[in-house]
Amino acid sequence: MRVMIVRDYDEMSRRAAEIVKEQILKKPDAVLGLATGSTPLGLYRYLIQMYKNGEIDFSRVITFNLDEYIGLPPEHPQSYHYFMFENLFNHINIKRENVHIPSGIAENLEEECKRYERELKEKGPIDLQVLGIGVNGHIGFNEPDESIETKTHIVTLTEDTINANKRFFKSIEEVPRRAITMGLASIMRAKKIILLASGKSKANAIRETLKGKLTTKVPSTVLLLHSNVTIIIDKEAASLLTDKELTNVELID
Ligand code: PGA
Repeated sequence: MRVMIVRDYDEMSRRAAEIVKEQILKKPDAVLGLATGSTPLGLYRYLIQMYKNGEIDFSRVITFNLDEYIGLPPEHPQSYHYFMFENLFNHINIKRENVHIPSGIAENLEEECKRYERELKEKGPIDLQVLGIGVNGHIGFNEPDESIETKTHIVTLTEDTINANKRFFKSIEEVPRRAITMGLASIMRAKKIILLASGKSKANAIRETLKGKLTTKVPSTVLLLHSNVTIIIDKEAASLLTDKELTNVELID
């Protein structure tokens, strides 16, 4: 695992955008795994800028999002469909048919999970997966639990996650309690993964991830077993790391 500690959120976003750009230049029909939340917003702003400057072309790029809330239709402002179009897809030349996000309103949600997993298998593997991390160490919506689910599945969100995400809703009651998420094995099939984290609230999750203790209670620890992961964090998110965690990783500039 490589760890890049950068000055601040903007630098984290810029470095991540450079990695995505490099991937698209190397493989114009790259399959990107994308995340939602506050963390990747800066990355998406840089990618839009790069597209507008003519530096990258998304016309052959394929994307798969990690997750979606159950019960929110695509036009709901807090759905992850809406988020992705609002913050990235509407501003670049990606083809609608190349965008994949699980449907949170499918009549048969179990079947939707299977369909999504099949599409991932057919069009994947993901060349570059972008991840954020929850305060509890979740990746996608794979929440801390006694066991893991490997494939795309339905998940009940934890109180930590509902509390962390209530800032986007009018009240906590409006936060959906369930979501569809890619499973940990679906994520681990990606050839390359970048995980971004910014701010003090993520410092503990980052320390737990890098401790070297593989546990389903901190789902991000599964990344310790992947051979091509780069964690890009700002100083605040790195603030609880000690020599012990840093001996497990390769520090890069
Ligand atoms: P955030 O969410 O980027 O809004 O902090 C990250 C996550 O929950 O994975």
